[in-house]
Amino acid sequence: MGEKISILGISGSLRKGSFNSGALRAAVDLCPDEAQIEVFDIASIPSFNQDEDQDPPAIIQEFKDRIRAADAILFATPEYNYSIPGVLKNAIDWASRPYGQSAWDGKPAAIMGASIGGIATARAQYDLRKMMVFLNMFPINKPEVMIGNCGDKFDAEGNLIDEESKKFIRQMLEALIAWTKKIK
Ligand SMILES: Cc1cc2nc3c(=O)[nH]c(=O)nc-3n(C[C@H](O)[C@H](O)[C@H](O)COP(=O)(O)O)c2cc1C
Repeated sequence: MGEKISILGISGSLRKGSFNSGALRAAVDLCPDEAQIEVFDIASIPSFNQDEDQDPPAIIQEFKDRIRAADAILFATPEYNYSIPGVLKNAIDWASRPYGQSAWDGKPAAIMGASIGGIATARAQYDLRKMMVFLNMFPINKPEVMIGNCGDKFDAEGNLIDEESKKFIRQMLEALIAWTKKIK
């Protein structure tokens, strides 16, 4: 048996009871045996400053190393003002620099998102897809995991309790694994 496919999970929310971090924890539990998801916490990533991109803080080097070591990336993003949160964009920008040394280059990816609204992070997800064009990442197209009106789909600790959403997450992971194998 070969090694497991490694997926790096990144939540775009720093909130303690975050629905998106809860969805990512659910993905860790639902992950098929042939893969494993490790989560990178972006909370300690400082604000991007291009003056530092040739000699970035140690946490950025660690972040880039973890991205490079992963076979695929899984983003769980909230929607803030119709796009992805600034903290997630900031983390993406750091790992894309310096020019020509992006850690994202060529990575298969999947996106999911949870929102208290009915549009269910669709606008944020499509913004993230747009970024992936320039980053030269390869996101799966389907299934799109958009967990809308999510207040009652998580328990008081932010754990996902909605079976339908879990089913979509499982299908998304299966699609990501198949896609990762295909383009590897
Ligand atoms: C600054 C800000 C902007 C927001 N903008 C949107 C939005 O555009 N669309 C939406 O569906 N929800 C929006 N929300 C509500 C989020 O869906 C909600 O806060 C959600 O819990 C964030 O995800 P999290 O639980 O993972 O932190 C916004 C929340 C904040 C704090």
